[in-house]
Amino acid sequence: MSAKQRAKETRDRPIGVFDSGIGGITVLKALRKALPHEDLVYLGDTARLPYGTKSAETVTAYATQATKHLLGHEVKMVVIACNTASAVALGPLKEALAPIPVIGVIEPGAKAGVKATKTGRIGVIATEATVKGGAYARAIHAAMPEAQVAQAPCGLFVTLAEEGWTKGEVAEAAAKRYLAPLFKGRAAPDTLVLGCTHFPVLAGTIRKIVGKGVKLVDSAATTAKAVEEALSRQNLATARKGKGKTRFLATDSTERFARVGGIFFGEAIRAKDVELVDIKPD
Ligand code: DGL
Repeated sequence: MSAKQRAKETRDRPIGVFDSGIGGITVLKALRKALPHEDLVYLGDTARLPYGTKSAETVTAYATQATKHLLGHEVKMVVIACNTASAVALGPLKEALAPIPVIGVIEPGAKAGVKATKTGRIGVIATEATVKGGAYARAIHAAMPEAQVAQAPCGLFVTLAEEGWTKGEVAEAAAKRYLAPLFKGRAAPDTLVLGCTHFPVLAGTIRKIVGKGVKLVDSAATTAKAVEEALSRQNLATARKGKGKTRFLATDSTERFARVGGIFFGEAIRAKDVELVDIKPD
């Protein structure tokens, strides 16, 4: 094969997208929209969810196994569509997957927050592991040193999202308990970063609690933009014009993945189109 043919073959490979569960489908949806011609392979490590309550070492080990599994699908790039894995493991994942480029969601999410705020007061809600690691505060301060960042872990939102309980009294009670302290007083944030890919499906409920004046931002669209730029910069974008394929892989119940994943994707996913995979090392 000539070097030119090899380069074309690489450009036509799929992009791998990974999350602990189905939350990353919010990013997948944005990628599908921004990059209609690219093939996408989504892996949800549903057997080991949640990542957000686990230690940095465990999350790094799980995420490394999951993303290495994607290499078996000959991906040309990997998107870590999980804030927790991006927050604690982006460096090790880049190292483990080199020379395949790896893109996380924290920096795009932080930049979206900085762009949206008028007062410089930015709230971040995320999993416990993401908040503890402080990656959002660092990324926001890198872009806006004077920003005031208030963070709150909202782990129960992950369970509510995976359960499909995105509206109603249970979701609202959880949102009130988590968010009311953050939005008390005059120094309340004017922007709230949804720092977990599971949270955008709860946006309606969150909005009810924080009020109309607060801007809600998530990293889905900004991550898709970052991927688009990286593909073009590294000459990795496909030149094909047809509709790209989307493939789903899960480490546990394909039926559940399809049922709840459809809510995140905004269109039905059939269980028979989800492949059950084992990603644990031998
Ligand atoms: N979706 C993941 C994130 O963006 C977290 C879910 C989990 O706790 O596994 O942080």
